[in-house]
Amino acid sequence: MKGIILAGGTGSRLSPLTKVTNKHLLPVYNKPMIYYPVQTLVQAGIRDILLVAGGNSAGEFLRLLGNGKEFGLKHINYTYQEGEGGIAAALSLAEHFADGEKVIVILGDNILEGNIKDSVKKFEKQKSGARLLLKEVEDPERFGVAELKGKKIVSIVEKPKRPKSSYGVVGVYMYDARVFDIIRTLKPSNRGELEITDVNNHYLKAGHLEYDILKGYWTDAGTFESLFRANRLIWEKISS
Ligand code: DAU
Repeated sequence: MKGIILAGGTGSRLSPLTKVTNKHLLPVYNKPMIYYPVQTLVQAGIRDILLVAGGNSAGEFLRLLGNGKEFGLKHINYTYQEGEGGIAAALSLAEHFADGEKVIVILGDNILEGNIKDSVKKFEKQKSGARLLLKEVEDPERFGVAELKGKKIVSIVEKPKRPKSSYGVVGVYMYDARVFDIIRTLKPSNRGELEITDVNNHYLKAGHLEYDILKGYWTDAGTFESLFRANRLIWEKISS
């Protein structure tokens, strides 16, 4: 399976930290933010990786990561997203790279404690469709939120004012090759972006959406509070 890391967007919620540099190059305790999603993919056995860069200092990803030697990789692919058309718009740039294969997508500001190898294996066996990771959170209104009935997801709402559950949709998505056709049908949301939640709802409506509950901590690092939390979680893990 091929891996895609989305590190586009402008990181405006972290301004002025992101006025000059790229959000994903900011430190999370002792490493640049982007190291964590790279590590998550590599630990899950993914070796063929595309990084979608964007925003300020996008060229610095190359200087930092090179061909991924530090992660035991031989090569990293790069592409560039202009502006911030949304997560699904960034993913659409990976169609050529995916070349008809299944993909695993991770957001460049998502930090996961655990190994997601088991979910990746399950998706490899899954005939088609999509697979998500869910995690119970205290502040679901900040995320895509999945409503469950029994064991089934019945709805996913992006940043709901009144969340129907505490299950946040983690920024790790596994898709079959149809994802790129689905993105072509999307319309920009109220915030002017092509939403990954709309992609997930498409699979849900077709009855092709599976999920696992993520073990270990998970946080994004795209706001001052969550960046601070991410730093603390890594520090606690390293010093325990
Ligand atoms: O963190 C998980 C959440 O990420 C999900 O629960 C939500 O459903 C999903 O919409 C997303 O929410 P955010 O609003 O927090 O995403 P944000 O705009 O902060 O973007 C997260 C990452 O996605 C960012 O670090 C890089 C990538 N991205 C984002 C945009 C808007 C791109 O590559 N290009 C973009 O245009």
